[in-house]
Amino acid sequence: MKNVTPPNPYETKDLLDQYLLFHYGEKKDIFPYSFCPEEVFNFHARCVSELMEGCAKKSSSRALDIGCAVGRCSFELARYVPYVLGLDMSSRFIDQAKVIKEKGACRVSCKVEGDICEEIEIVIPDDIDRGRVEFQVGDACCLSPGLGIFDRILLVNLIDRVKDPLSCLSQLKNFVNPKARVLVVSPYTWSEEFTPKSSWLGGFVQNEKPFWTSAAIEHILGPNFIRIKTLNIPFLIREHARKFQLGISEAALWEFKGN
Ligand SMILES: C[S@@+](CC[C@H](N)C(=O)[O-])C[C@H]1O[C@@H](n2cnc3c(N)ncnc32)[C@H](O)[C@@H]1O
Repeated sequence: MKNVTPPNPYETKDLLDQYLLFHYGEKKDIFPYSFCPEEVFNFHARCVSELMEGCAKKSSSRALDIGCAVGRCSFELARYVPYVLGLDMSSRFIDQAKVIKEKGACRVSCKVEGDICEEIEIVIPDDIDRGRVEFQVGDACCLSPGLGIFDRILLVNLIDRVKDPLSCLSQLKNFVNPKARVLVVSPYTWSEEFTPKSSWLGGFVQNEKPFWTSAAIEHILGPNFIRIKTLNIPFLIREHARKFQLGISEAALWEFKGN
């Protein structure tokens, strides 16, 4: 039998539309019912505000959004810093993010039922300077030294979607300025579809002992970063008009203390 590599789901039109709606959709387009807690909306703006809390505006600050998908966090970061780099492995997502940067808007097809879809237009708020944001295809597990050094780094719902989460986290110390802050956000949904089990940071049992992802992250980042705070941030992704994913990511904010 031929060994066929499964297609990357983040290169498909279905997930492109799902992520455009998740990132930029209004509440009425994402969840057209009255019974839903408010806290599940505006996930990306919430992550960015947790990362940027208390940050003094500096004209030289640089932010990196690793696994940016179609770019909402990157645009939100542009409210705070003059340069933002959004990086993702999916060229389909990055191409779309570049179109949104250029036009400030785009059409999205939202799944209603089966093949039935409705088109909406999503728009970037006027008060965001899109010129501050750049998008690039890149691998989160092997960042290029040419990217430079950053003051704020965001990894949102990424570490359980990469092949090598240990490399992804352990290289961060090489890309930060003194006192830089890093926010690692994840629901820890480990799956062999994305990460070989031997590379899971946690979520497994060995010799009857549970291994937790949060403790593994502490072990990886702890020598170079101080944990400032940990909190839960909920999110809601619409699959179609009657089916949704409700996730609760753990968000941990870290400050660089040196190598
Ligand atoms: C679950 S999505 C989260 C996207 C976005 N951060 C958000 O919160 O909406 C995971 C993202 O990670 C990207 N990704 C997966 N592996 C990657 C890698 N090795 N390098 C860069 N991006 C990667 C995928 O293309 C996808 O956009």
